[in-house]
Amino acid sequence: MRRRWLACGLALVGWGCAFGVDDIPEVPENPTFHRDILPLYQDHCLLCHGDPPSRGAPTYFRLDVYEIPEAEAHPDGLGERRQHHAGHAHPEGEGPFGAKAMSLHCLQVVEEGLMPPAAKWGDGLGPNARKMLRRWVEQGSPP
Ligand code: HEC
Repeated sequence: MRRRWLACGLALVGWGCAFGVDDIPEVPENPTFHRDILPLYQDHCLLCHGDPPSRGAPTYFRLDVYEIPEAEAHPDGLGERRQHHAGHAHPEGEGPFGAKAMSLHCLQVVEEGLMPPAAKWGDGLGPNARKMLRRWVEQGSPP
């Protein structure tokens, strides 16, 4: 009995062991959306930022697709940006936007600990997952 309590305590101390999703084991050299980022978003974001956005998530973007065909009027989402509230990068135009156009904005809210909301109590992306997201954005958010 006492053993079990001890194991439980240790699990809570360990990073992401007790709840949520474990960090990814290693950071890929050249992360791509479909192989690397989509599974990450599935684990941490799509509960709210899927199709349709739910639980109060903004409706101007979805993270379950790389690009939204209807948004073809704004093909270069990673280009020029105007400042959105709180100094976040926000793609030009009205959207709707897919994961490519939103990549920098997503990186910012993740690095600031704002997303996913559970990051507030420690259930966010692990260090490797953050590093991968940053690398993906720095390499131009490839599909
Ligand atoms: C439990 C639901 C939930 C999850 C999971 C979640 N979000 Fe959100 N997200 C929201 C809600 C609600 C808002 C709008 C309120 C806000 O901005 O805090 C939001 C807003 C955002 C915004 C826009 C912020 C702005 O300034 O307009 C981005 C970008 C974002 N989320 C990215 C992500 C990413 C990336 C993940 C996964 C790492 C994620 N979210 C996980 C609910 C969620």
